[in-house]
Amino acid sequence: MNSIKIFAPATVANVSCGFDALGFAINTIGDEMVLTKTTEKGVKISKIEGAELTFDSNKNAASVVVKAMLDKVNADFGIDMQLFKKVKPGSGLGSSASSAAGAAFATNELLGKPFTKLELTEFARLGEKIACGSPIADNVAAAIYGGFILVKSYEPLEIVKLPVPNELWVAVIHPQIEVKTEDARNVLKPNISIADAVKQSANLAGLISGLYTNDYQLISRSLVDVIAEPHRKKLIPLFDKVKQTGLQNGALGIGISGSGPTIFGLCKGEKSANNVANAMKNVYQNSTIDFNIYISKVNTEGVKII
Ligand code: HSE
Repeated sequence: MNSIKIFAPATVANVSCGFDALGFAINTIGDEMVLTKTTEKGVKISKIEGAELTFDSNKNAASVVVKAMLDKVNADFGIDMQLFKKVKPGSGLGSSASSAAGAAFATNELLGKPFTKLELTEFARLGEKIACGSPIADNVAAAIYGGFILVKSYEPLEIVKLPVPNELWVAVIHPQIEVKTEDARNVLKPNISIADAVKQSANLAGLISGLYTNDYQLISRSLVDVIAEPHRKKLIPLFDKVKQTGLQNGALGIGISGSGPTIFGLCKGEKSANNVANAMKNVYQNSTIDFNIYISKVNTEGVKII
């Protein structure tokens, strides 16, 4: 194989009760990338469309991943990369993760698949480190594995793929402002109370239990975030209103997607996802804030060849 074109899905991280530990991939939006072998060694970014990102291969979230993988196996070829960004940086939909995960998957294919998904996730974390200063794994693992994932441990990295109930849909609304992950991490408190730790871990356990048993009501009751949302929601205009309206219109839960500003609503069924999307849309339509909206079944495939 000399060249490969891939789709790398956008992702919703945290999912309310799983800060830095939970994520899932979505179908309807993702980056596309073309990676081609070159005789000249090293990585070259020859095209970036859809976002203003650096062409410096030591600073780009996708190329650092490619470079690390080529170096690791001492490859006798280089890679030219074209990046078609559909997931906007600073959206909370795992933009850098989509590029980093796509780069890891595509490079692995060009190398003849020497690496496991877990190893690809480790490589993709290098892209997250470059993009936001922290090698967070929730978005990249969700993009690589597809479906719902749990980052069970960071040191050593352990990823658990969780089941996805068949009728689980999501509506995501992206108000067109940029929130940098680094800034959204800086508003968090370094310590939490034991009472909050108990609430968060019980809700995380409840959500995971609901995923295994297809218990949509348990999933709904578990979509509560006492760690990040109380501090981050002030970065997102009209968050409380969107949340209230989404819940009134049947969402199982409404929360901040990753570090925001995108807001997600998990729903049972496509019809409910449409209702929730319309309700959330109305809030921003009555304001001066532009937005994009997507409805999707939870993506169970992860990065794929197109
Ligand atoms: N878990 C991360 C956060 C996701 O919420 O900061 C953003 O990449």
